[in-house]
Amino acid sequence: MAIIELRQVEKAFPGKKGTIHAVNGIDLTVEKQDVYGIVGYSGAGKSTLVRLLNGLETPTSGVIDIKGQDVTKLAGKQLRDFRKKVGMIFQHFNLLWSRTVVENIELPLELAGVEKNKRREKATQLLKLVGLDGRGDAYPNQLSGGQKQRVGIARALANDPDILLCDEATSALDPQTTEEVLELLADINQKLGLTIVLITHEMNVIRKICNKVAVMETGKIVEEGLVSEVFRNPQQEVTKIFVQQDLEPKQNAADLLAEFVKENPNGDLVTLNFLKVNAGEPVISQAIRKFDVDISVVYGNMQRAGGNSIGTLTIQLIGEKAAVDQAIEFFKTQEVGVEVLHRGK
Ligand SMILES: Nc1ncnc2c1ncn2[C@@H]1O[C@H](COP(=O)(O)OP(=O)(O)OP(=O)(O)O)[C@@H](O)[C@H]1O
Ligand SMILES: [Mg+2]
Repeated sequence: MAIIELRQVEKAFPGKKGTIHAVNGIDLTVEKQDVYGIVGYSGAGKSTLVRLLNGLETPTSGVIDIKGQDVTKLAGKQLRDFRKKVGMIFQHFNLLWSRTVVENIELPLELAGVEKNKRREKATQLLKLVGLDGRGDAYPNQLSGGQKQRVGIARALANDPDILLCDEATSALDPQTTEEVLELLADINQKLGLTIVLITHEMNVIRKICNKVAVMETGKIVEEGLVSEVFRNPQQEVTKIFVQQDLEPKQNAADLLAEFVKENPNGDLVTLNFLKVNAGEPVISQAIRKFDVDISVVYGNMQRAGGNSIGTLTIQLIGEKAAVDQAIEFFKTQEVGVEVLHRGK
């Protein structure tokens, strides 16, 4: 079920050198409980797009339908009620430094007129949910970056939103802390059935927690799809660059394989590209059983993307030419991509 639907949405700003089309004709459908990633270079229009989703900006034209409501038509109390149901977290956390952790989390409830006891009860539950049990009386500057973002997440969840928007929420964090915050987001996506729209310029963030991704360039979505598909088969140049950045330095693999061929000119070297979980092992053991070949693994690079294991396995096949040919033909009939790197003498 679609929870967010954008049709031909445009947002233009007047600029010194003419109009800036920050968002330039975007169609987007986000299903309930998606973790939808939006990736793009600086200036692509990502932040403008999420600000349109929570009503902080109004589009120049187009339709923004969220939970069946035309957001552009909301005003007054309706708009305030709508905003409560769309939480947001930011790169620099945007916490109030003079308030304790628990008081930060209570802020949206205060603004919504929730009474003190209820506020405290809810904030205490949220502290537990984000793994900050017992830290409610600390001040934000006593916390690590990861803990500050946990407070940001708890505060964003205070009004039980249906949608959580994340604008570069892990960009100020180190890799380990990023990992932990992403795990927390994945966890609340599952536990609370929350829909997440996440902006980043880092493809590893997309790979780790998103199921779908859209790539933005100059105000447009130039490519979109399931994360596992986009990683396996990127179409646009910009997407290829983003995907490439995230995969292990390919050059290392190329050097390694060239060296291997030099030392083992007689074997056949084949790279198998996998999309599915555990696709690798049965295919290889089947080939060994069916054909008179030996197989050794030379290089492997498997990663999780959108809930699937994708990656490559480079193997050496040793045996009579006819048997090796049969094994290669067999791989081609399986759900794997086959690339013959080197034929033995
Ligand atoms: N309020 C505004 N007034 C004028 N121009 C704006 C405004 N907000 C954004 N822009 C312009 O719109 C374009 C898109 O900006 P936006 O902040 O959405 O990009 P972004 O993809 O989030 O970039 P970054 O990765 O740097 O955060 C930029 O050219 C920016 O200068
Ligand atoms: Mg931005």
